[in-house]
Amino acid sequence: MPHPDDPAGLGARVDAAVTAALAAIEAAQSTAELQAAKAAHNGQGSELAALNGSLRDVAPEERKAAGQIIGAGRGRVGAAITERQAQLAAAEEQAQLEAERIDVTALPRIRAVGGRHPLTMLSEEMGDVFVGMGWEIAEGPELEHEWYNFDSLNVDPDHPARGESDTFYVAPADRHMVLRTQTSPVQMRSMLTRELPIYIVAPGRVYRTDDIDATHLPVFTQIEGLAVDKGLTMANLRGTLEHLARIMFGEEAKIRLRPNYFPFTEPSAEMDVWHPGMRGGPRWVEWGGCGMVNPNVLRAAGIDPEVYSGFAFGMGIERTLQFRYQLDDMRDMIEGDVRFTEQFGMVI
Ligand code: DAH
Repeated sequence: MPHPDDPAGLGARVDAAVTAALAAIEAAQSTAELQAAKAAHNGQGSELAALNGSLRDVAPEERKAAGQIIGAGRGRVGAAITERQAQLAAAEEQAQLEAERIDVTALPRIRAVGGRHPLTMLSEEMGDVFVGMGWEIAEGPELEHEWYNFDSLNVDPDHPARGESDTFYVAPADRHMVLRTQTSPVQMRSMLTRELPIYIVAPGRVYRTDDIDATHLPVFTQIEGLAVDKGLTMANLRGTLEHLARIMFGEEAKIRLRPNYFPFTEPSAEMDVWHPGMRGGPRWVEWGGCGMVNPNVLRAAGIDPEVYSGFAFGMGIERTLQFRYQLDDMRDMIEGDVRFTEQFGMVI
């Protein structure tokens, strides 16, 4: 029975349309479904739109009241859409964040492929000690000319080290090539190519025809040092080596120089090192050779020994590693067993 103020039963139709619209809005489970509900219940062709259009047929004196009824219904539907839209958008964003979540603390499922070799790391570390003092890293070839490896370093043609029992000669003999037996040839190469003053260290591989045992490898690593400047003395050499020893073996480490002979230095010394954690207990062990660069060597490089003096040193990196970590057998260093290399702290 139509209400007297609502002759066409408009209120009931609006209520029915709004109820249907609210149910559809509530049922929408995604913003896409909500868009569809909005189109069906509030858009063109919807019941509410049709009711709005029918205002044209309402008597002018009732049109204001009718318009308010329809407007209120559309207002409720619009508010419900806005609210549901906000809920669904928040839920969808949350779901997306959840789906894209990355656990930055998760352990990578990557297998370790190996470890950096402790000799490589130690050689870099020793180089860094000198770079920290303003020295430069120099290099030379492992396949070296006899002149650089021996003659230019003042080694006599009949010196025992040149014999086939120590040196790998590379055929053909008339090319005079050897696998360098020491890193000292980098001294001469540096003096011939660099500006004075010179402060270089040269880490690298060297070769000798030694049988392999716990303290000898036929292929091993040395680091060579060379300083050429005005006024250098044994005191500079000593201070430099002491600094290196303390960084390598700790503050308590000491060095000692014993007179010796090397053709390329004069005077020459054997350098021993002592530190409390030494393999086999605190004791002196031979670490390398050193001395003041022989004037003949400076002259061979075109440097005036009256104006410049130099000091040089060379030591084995395998021995340094051995002394530092109490390693008994050098052969462990070349077997490539990752269980050995991993103990030095670097796994990649
Ligand atoms: N080259 C020498 C060796 O292999 C070590 C050495 C001794 C290097 C004295 C030097 C030095 O630079 O001055 O036994």
